[in-house]
Amino acid sequence: MSTNMPRVVQDMLRREQSRFDVLHPKSKASFQEGQAHYLYGAPSHWMRRWAGGFPLTARSARGARLHCVDGIDYADFCLGDTGAMCGHGPEAVTRAVSEQLGRGATLMLPTEDAQWVGTELSRRFGLPYWGFTTSASDANRAAIRIARIITGREKVLVFNGCYHGSVEEAHVALQDGEMVMRNGIHPNAVDHARVSKVVDFNDVPALEAALVSQDVACVLAEPFMTNYGMVAPDPGYLDALQEIARRTGTLLAIDETHTFSSGPGGYTAEHGLKPDFFVVGKAVGGGIPVGLYGMSQSVAEAMWRAVPKVNPTEVRQSAHLGFGGTLAGSALQVAAVRAVLENVLTIDAFAHMTRLAGDLAAKMRQVIAKHGLPWYVAHLGARVETMYAPDAPRDARDVARGRDGPLESLLHVYFMNRGVLITPFHSMLLMCPSTDESDTQRYLDVLNSFCEDLQGEVRSEALKARSASAP
Ligand SMILES: Cc1ncc(COP(=O)(O)O)c(C=O)c1O
Repeated sequence: MSTNMPRVVQDMLRREQSRFDVLHPKSKASFQEGQAHYLYGAPSHWMRRWAGGFPLTARSARGARLHCVDGIDYADFCLGDTGAMCGHGPEAVTRAVSEQLGRGATLMLPTEDAQWVGTELSRRFGLPYWGFTTSASDANRAAIRIARIITGREKVLVFNGCYHGSVEEAHVALQDGEMVMRNGIHPNAVDHARVSKVVDFNDVPALEAALVSQDVACVLAEPFMTNYGMVAPDPGYLDALQEIARRTGTLLAIDETHTFSSGPGGYTAEHGLKPDFFVVGKAVGGGIPVGLYGMSQSVAEAMWRAVPKVNPTEVRQSAHLGFGGTLAGSALQVAAVRAVLENVLTIDAFAHMTRLAGDLAAKMRQVIAKHGLPWYVAHLGARVETMYAPDAPRDARDVARGRDGPLESLLHVYFMNRGVLITPFHSMLLMCPSTDESDTQRYLDVLNSFCEDLQGEVRSEALKARSASAP
């Protein structure tokens, strides 16, 4: 890479940000008004993270397209950071949810759909017992709580660079071998030294050393890291993880909130994993807030020993598990999950999304190679990501070495200015069942023009510098 690249990137970023301003006056005004009512100008703090300096105000979204109040149409590869992996407004979910709203959204009673959904969850994801929550964060917290109940251990082990939602134990990272708070997150009066352990992904000796002391209730892991740059497990790594966990009496919670995009049964089914807990959220509700935690027969039995299962001859059961969720398992959630699993995220839909993502990844690699840029493209199921280093990372430290904040911001805003949305905190592209070649072609065209513009700017900077230094 040229030495004048950082300056070129900064200059282009400034220009693209002013262009973003000019293109989106209504969105900008709306974000400014939002400052009066919202902590971060919009209903969620994540929404302030878009590279243009303010989020678009959306008017509508359908399938893989989104339309903003400034009248611009986008190919949406952000898809609500996976919450909309079914596509926006999937017909089957809209119908099922609308009908259920009319029949009662939340009843503190099961509905008839519950039996179909329970059977399908076990069939798809391979674990026999399930519970609903209203978010993946909550489902992770439920799994951790149950792991502690049945192991009597306090600690949770996570991987450096992970993200599992608002799970206190997972807000940690490794810095020079020491555990620190991730992204400077406030510790929230939690004694992380007591409740957390963190090791690098793909580091078997570190994992062994952390679990051999038998004080970890569960490992909470994505099977293929997605949240700090996509990091694949080394061949055999997940076998080692499962073996060490089993040998040390540590439970394994696989969080498939993002890796569900690997296939109809998530990464677990695709790769024959045998976790103790399986967590999924976001996409599985088709836009309705849902988290799910599944558990194995032996975990369920251990839990029932600690917190007995209701005896059908008793009228009530007084013990509860210590986590709430009044709307968890609501009729609306169950109807939405049924529609998603039965009609939207089907085997055929995954085949389409995976083929499209694979083609896109291959074409992105061609564009990048054509321009001689040292970038790597990762692909997993319906998900693709560009990373700004030449080789596949093996852990978060490799990702950090390849990170280039200004370049990533520039790419995001450059793409938005040309009608392509990418999740603001990733360079990940996600396909939904209605994403098609016109969307991926739009992305590729913009990627190509980005590479040309970037290299054109680098060349003209170099020429300027040469003529300035000429005698
Ligand atoms: C792997 C993983 N787990 C859990 C979560 C938390 O999901 P939610 O925000 O729905 O609680 C996320 C969110 O991005 C995630 O990526």
